[in-house]
Amino acid sequence: MAVLVTGGAGYIGSHTSIELLESGKDIVIIDNFYNSCPKVLDRIEKLAGKGFAFEECDIRDRAALDKVFEKYDIDSVIHFAGLKAVGESCQKPLLYYENNISGTVTLCEAMAAHGCKKIVFSSSATVYGEHNVSPLKETMIAGGTTNPYGTTKFFIEQILQDLAKSDPEWSVCILRYFNPIGAHISGMIGESPNGIPNNLMPYITQVAEGKREFLSVYGNDYDTIDGTGVRDYIHVVDLAKGHLKALDKILDENGVFVYNLGTGRGYSVLEVVAAFEKASGVKVPYKIVDRRPGDLATCYSDPTKAKEELNWVAEKGIDEMCADSYRWQHQNPNGYED
Ligand code: NAD
Ligand code: UFG
Repeated sequence: MAVLVTGGAGYIGSHTSIELLESGKDIVIIDNFYNSCPKVLDRIEKLAGKGFAFEECDIRDRAALDKVFEKYDIDSVIHFAGLKAVGESCQKPLLYYENNISGTVTLCEAMAAHGCKKIVFSSSATVYGEHNVSPLKETMIAGGTTNPYGTTKFFIEQILQDLAKSDPEWSVCILRYFNPIGAHISGMIGESPNGIPNNLMPYITQVAEGKREFLSVYGNDYDTIDGTGVRDYIHVVDLAKGHLKALDKILDENGVFVYNLGTGRGYSVLEVVAAFEKASGVKVPYKIVDRRPGDLATCYSDPTKAKEELNWVAEKGIDEMCADSYRWQHQNPNGYED
């Protein structure tokens, strides 16, 4: 029996694939390389010391999905495939709704048709919207998302819950990620954004590598420790390990399970810059600029439920996250283009 990993060539999918292979699982990765590069596949195999199946496939293509389910013996799916740029989603909402929502519906239809009804879904802290106050708990009412990307995550959560309600054979685990950063300790795989990074850590590493002049810090007048935004950064390898626990849960039990994957600790932008400088030994020049529209002051998790029910806790701290992010960038200044 194999686990189907959609979007397995991407940042979180590639790290999770390594953990799955190292734990002895057989996997089938599918990806359309919209935001990733085939090179990562060799690196996954090298780092895990184990081969796996790969099919270039778009999750919106039902016929291609059917072929994958016919070719392999798949009993569960970890579903990473999706578009994730908040700004782009405001400019191209239909692309996001079509890719993320239609893609997930098509995937679930193909799964059901082949008797595979177990899915772990990549959701986001963004579904907590603006009205909830950190620490964010799974019992809080989700919704009130502020951009089409976030809304796709909220809608997909609803769709998966309705599906599980309609058919008790389904088992769904919704994982709400906080802010994944870091990279595999080898420095061979990591986050490789196209163009100007939207997110804090890839921007910092590109400044450290001399590819960008300075970091723009989006506002220092929030009600936080130093006025800059506070987030719950989590090492991508810890996040990857959370997926193995989630998979065990749904293989064991039917139903819908929702978990935060975060550390429970927030760091401000300036605290991250300081931790990065300490870990890398490289100075990161920055300028304070206006707030970025749509940003919240503070967002961090209450990770208790994942600890109690999945026996999962994030183990890596901010120093390790920064050191690993820097190693990846320094060894691959142009990401997978090198
Ligand atoms: P990523 O872009 O690196 O990986 C996503 C992968 O999915 C890419 O390889 C892309 O080519 C593939 N893909 C996209 N659309 C596809 C389609 N229609 N068919 C097949 N493949 C497709 O992103 P990531 O950071 O690894 O994120 C993985 C998942 O986690 C996404 O669903 C994302 O929304 C979610 N998530 C990410 C973050 C984050 O900060 N990185 C936070 C919360 C949630
Ligand atoms: N920031 C800067 N300068 C930058 C980039 C970011 O100061 O160049 C600040 C932001 O204002 C924020 C913090 O750094 O205070 C983190 O910003 P990110 O863009 O890295 O992350 P966000 O918390 O805004 O959003 C990310 C993903 C979302 C996801 C959310 C929760 O981009 O898709 O985490 O998982 F929903």
